[in-house]
Amino acid sequence: MEQQRPVVGPAELFDAIGSGYEDAFGRPPVVARAVGELLALLPPSARVLDIGSGTGRPVAHALAGAGCRVTGLDVSGVMISIAREQVPDAEFVHTDVRAWTSPPACWDAVCAYFPFLQMPRADTEAVLANVARWLVPGGYLSLITVPMDAEELPVDFLGHPVRITSFPALELEERVTAAGLRVVSTYSEIFEPDGGQAEEHLLITARRP
Ligand SMILES: C[S@@+](CC[C@H](N)C(=O)[O-])C[C@H]1O[C@@H](n2cnc3c(N)ncnc32)[C@H](O)[C@@H]1O
Repeated sequence: MEQQRPVVGPAELFDAIGSGYEDAFGRPPVVARAVGELLALLPPSARVLDIGSGTGRPVAHALAGAGCRVTGLDVSGVMISIAREQVPDAEFVHTDVRAWTSPPACWDAVCAYFPFLQMPRADTEAVLANVARWLVPGGYLSLITVPMDAEELPVDFLGHPVRITSFPALELEERVTAAGLRVVSTYSEIFEPDGGQAEEHLLITARRP
C-alpha cells in the first residue's frame, strides 16, 4: 500500500523548493504589472515591505533597483538566503509575518504576492489589519493571490503535498476593506505555468485613507 506523505507547512515547503520556485513560477505577468503600478505611484526612495519575499526576484530586485528602500520578510530560511545573495540592496528578515510587528505608519507600500495561500483565513485577516496600521496614511497595499473558495484544500505544489486556503475575489476585497483600507483597483488574469495547471491571479491595490 502507498504511504501518504505528510502535508508540509510554508517554511518546510519553500525550504525544499528554494530557487526552483523562481524557475517554475517566478515571472507571472501580474507581478510585473503590480510592481510597475507601484513604482508609478510611489515617491522616490519609498519604504516598501515585501511580505513573503521569496527569492527576492523579481519584486525586491525591481523595487530596490528603482531606488526604493525594501525590507522583505519570509518564513523560509532558504528563500531568505537566496534573496540576500540575489538582492544585496534590500534587507531580508527571516520571520513568520504573523509573529512580526512594525511601528505604525512607517511603510509607503506593502507588497503581499502569494504569501496568504498557506494561512488560515483568520490569520490573513489579522495580517491585513496589521498592514493597515503599518502603512503611512495614503500608503498602498499591493496584494496578489489565487482567488478561490477553499479552506485547507489538499493540492500538489511542485511535487509537494500542501493545503491551500484562499478567498473568492469579492470576499477578499471585503476583507481588505474591513481591515481599514480602501480598494483602489482590481485586476485578474489567467496564468499558465510551464508544465503546470492554469490558475487565476488576482491583483488588489488598496490604500490607507
Ligand atoms: C508563492 S511564494 C511567492 C514569492 C514572491 N512573493 C513572489 O511572488 O515571487 C510565497 C512566499 O511566501 C512565504 N511565506 C508563506 N507564508 C509566510 C508567512 N506566514 N510569513 C512569511 N512568509 C511566508 C513563502 O516562504 C514563500 O517564499
